[in-house]
Amino acid sequence: MSQDSSDRIVAGVRAWIATASPGARVPSNRALMAEYGASPVTVQKAMQHLVRLGLVESRPGAGTFVRAVPTARAVDYGWQTAALGTAPAGLAGLSSTQRTVAPDAIGLHSGYPAVDLLPERLVRQALVRAARTDAALTRSPAAGLPELQAWFAGELAAAAPAGVTPASARDALIISGSQSGLSSIFRAVVGVGQPLLIESPTYWGAMLAAAQAGVVLVPIPSGPHGPDPDDVERAFVQTGARAFYAQPTFANPTGAQWPIATGQAVLETVRRHGAFLIEDDWAHDLGIDADPRPIAASDDDGHVVYLRSLTKSASPALRVAAVIARGPARDRILADRAAESMYVSGLLQAAALDVVTQPAWRTHLRGFREHLRVRRDLLISSLAAHAPAAHVEGVPVGGLNLWVRLPEGTDVVQVVRACEVRGLIIAPGSEWFPAEPSGSYVRLNYANADPGRFAEAAGILGAVLDGV
Ligand SMILES: Cc1ncc(COP(=O)(O)O)c(C=O)c1O
Repeated sequence: MSQDSSDRIVAGVRAWIATASPGARVPSNRALMAEYGASPVTVQKAMQHLVRLGLVESRPGAGTFVRAVPTARAVDYGWQTAALGTAPAGLAGLSSTQRTVAPDAIGLHSGYPAVDLLPERLVRQALVRAARTDAALTRSPAAGLPELQAWFAGELAAAAPAGVTPASARDALIISGSQSGLSSIFRAVVGVGQPLLIESPTYWGAMLAAAQAGVVLVPIPSGPHGPDPDDVERAFVQTGARAFYAQPTFANPTGAQWPIATGQAVLETVRRHGAFLIEDDWAHDLGIDADPRPIAASDDDGHVVYLRSLTKSASPALRVAAVIARGPARDRILADRAAESMYVSGLLQAAALDVVTQPAWRTHLRGFREHLRVRRDLLISSLAAHAPAAHVEGVPVGGLNLWVRLPEGTDVVQVVRACEVRGLIIAPGSEWFPAEPSGSYVRLNYANADPGRFAEAAGILGAVLDGV
């Protein structure tokens, strides 16, 4: 079979198609064999190529025909504006942290670690092993695979002080990423129109989930030492709220960890008010200078609803997390999850369980900590050298981000735009405030971009700040 004659037939038929009408019958294979002196196989190969190009279609028993060329036309979705009305809160677009950017830009906006910080081999091997188990073909129980439930519960139980009844496997509900858990908890535990105390600044996704659940946010200022417990007490009294959403460990965006006394005081407060602490331990595996101290470990009365995710430390593709809750709150959250998505893929749960139960998981976590430390310190020193006007208010003791204050009165939107024009993508701090921002902030992720470009990134930010 000759490649040349096949190419000649393709070129010849293409030229013919250019003058033929859509639907016209293409000369038969026999005619093409005669015209090009080609074998049946060569003609067949040429026709298959033309089919792949979408130029002809073969109808078995009838022959081969010229395909109708799709016409381009201007589309008009304007009618949807009237049909949909105004966008519900939070549904008008994506957060700046979810943007994709040009390959040569420096992205300090992302909320995830770089792939080379993840346990790639562990995850790939776990997925292969999981594919060989029944989990690949069966439905998971709504609450999750019992062994994975037991793993999450066991981890929290290991942090329980003496005298506290530890969480059981049944209390741990497996969910597909903690973002979906936030939505369920706000719907099931807080409810439409009800107040929810929330730190300020806080995770934008929690505010989004709250908006979707119709929950009314009550901001509590929170700084490098967490919130003032007196403010929390006052807000419970004034609003009659029944829940406080908080990140006591390596908060997004500040990377701060609450002092032990603050955690104890807040737990006492929620107990006194017959309320819940919704503890989002998103960065449990992201400690740098400190270890996580879940407040949930000290609670056995069901006052703390605890969220723990593997997304940032194992793989964003596994999308496995857990809610640990007790009593009727646990049942309601499970019912909400089941209504939303029935169950989490057993295949992904089996892979996640495999990853976290390998001895290499601990080794990965130790290495992860050191990578985060080096990257954090390099970005801080780069800013000090090249963007001295950008002030890191508190060195994060864990997490993925620097929370950076810009000089008073800086127009953050303008800074973000000017950086983008120069190839640096950063996230405007306003997305982390439930009400008016308390200052001009940006969030810079040190765990994702190439650290070799941190000096360049700081130089861009410094030049922009000098110019605005
Ligand atoms: C504080 C906080 N909670 C929850 C989430 C959502 O995590 P997941 O990827 O498990 O849905 C994030 C993601 O960045 C986060 O920062």
